[in-house]
Amino acid sequence: MNRYIINGGKSLHGDVVIGGAKNAALGIIAGAILTDEPVTIENLPDVSDINVLLDAIKGIGATVDRIDPHKVVICGKTINSVVVKSEVIQKIRASYYLLGALIGKKGQAQVAMPGGCDIGSRPIDQHLKGFRALGVNCDENEKDNCIYANVTNLRGNGIFLDVASVGATINIMLAAVLAKGQTTVENAAKEPHIVDVANFLNSMGARIKGAGTDVIRIYGVESLRGTEYSIIPDQIEAGTFMCAVAAAKGDVTLKNVIPRHLEAISSKLEEIGVRVEESASGDEVRIVAEEGTRLGSSTVRTRVYPGFPTDMQPQITSVLMLGSGNSTVTETIFENRFRYVEELRKMGADIDVKDNKTAKIHGVESVTGTHIEVPDLRAGAALTIAALAAGGQTVLDWIDYIERGYEDFDGKLRGIGADIVKETVDDRSNLGTE
Ligand code: UD1
Repeated sequence: MNRYIINGGKSLHGDVVIGGAKNAALGIIAGAILTDEPVTIENLPDVSDINVLLDAIKGIGATVDRIDPHKVVICGKTINSVVVKSEVIQKIRASYYLLGALIGKKGQAQVAMPGGCDIGSRPIDQHLKGFRALGVNCDENEKDNCIYANVTNLRGNGIFLDVASVGATINIMLAAVLAKGQTTVENAAKEPHIVDVANFLNSMGARIKGAGTDVIRIYGVESLRGTEYSIIPDQIEAGTFMCAVAAAKGDVTLKNVIPRHLEAISSKLEEIGVRVEESASGDEVRIVAEEGTRLGSSTVRTRVYPGFPTDMQPQITSVLMLGSGNSTVTETIFENRFRYVEELRKMGADIDVKDNKTAKIHGVESVTGTHIEVPDLRAGAALTIAALAAGGQTVLDWIDYIERGYEDFDGKLRGIGADIVKETVDDRSNLGTE
């Protein structure tokens, strides 16, 4: 287990370079095995979820050549197995993308049911509904906790998603790009990483239209070719640093961002008194939160893109807990995403959670460091933000969750003046994420 020791109360100043989007990278790595030609992926985030997925594709025979921490060359020609069952892969949510990719490539897959952060029930019925519409037989075997899928004639079809699921939308695209004929996904998710995975597949010769809207059309092609592709910046990593500056105060410029992807977060922060300035070059944002001034209050509801992202819900709560007045934060996507609130209360936050759905926040002037524990990835980011803004020292246990989704989080924070160090306590880490 790893922990952070954070001495709070230091304002943040300087520049942070934002890495590639983890949740896009996961879909892109799975998509890379669809061709027999080499695929070069750049701006890869060096986080443990990515490394687990790369190991999983290596485990089924793909060639994985890590040129440097942020660049990998993948070749799916040598894939010789359709069985992905390791204990490690079960811990990450994105294991499900190997179902779609193997169905597309081999017409068969046996993949362990996805794990991930414990933030709700997280079914994959919409993924399976989509595969079945394409002619795939899918069985969920409860004994070995695996999905068995096979298809002899993968054919396009119309699919209406009951919920606009990010994972199901990407998974159906992965399976349908090599199907015969046209697939239409209605009520598709519109998150930036959906568009990035579609752009990546199109750069391999796929024909996907409409990604980023709620109707995606996939015209099946015979085969895909190799490509070189650079992943978009991580919206959630950027949003997390924006919230860190808002809570701890200071003046920080985030480099390598797409400001449009941050609009829901920027507008909330501006509403409560943070300055957010987009650079003329269009790939930087500057966040200014004046020291000695208290932020205001707000009402936040998580929504699918372009709404406020559920993956930013814990971080904005850490900002609002220090605002003046009362705020509410309502979670509409997952049903168990407030477990971190108990930890914030230990620091002196005044927050009540109703029905696991709405946090009623009574802003306090300050919080104080104490010994707390990370319950899941984004909650870990929120607790770090709270600790940076707190008086005194916070010991934050189980930051292993954070490392699954944030590259060098403590190093980047130290680079802008935070007093944060990482300590290894023992190595029994065995955690699920997103
Ligand atoms: C992905 C992200 C996660 C993010 C979430 C929402 C990855 C690896 N994870 O998760 O960080 O919080 O999108 O932006 O990219 N649902 C069903 N049936 C399904 C699928 C989903 O009912 O078959 C429901 C879920 O329970 C949830 C909602 O749909 O309530 C959204 O889930 P989804 O968009 O699929 O999230 P994930 O792909 O799991």
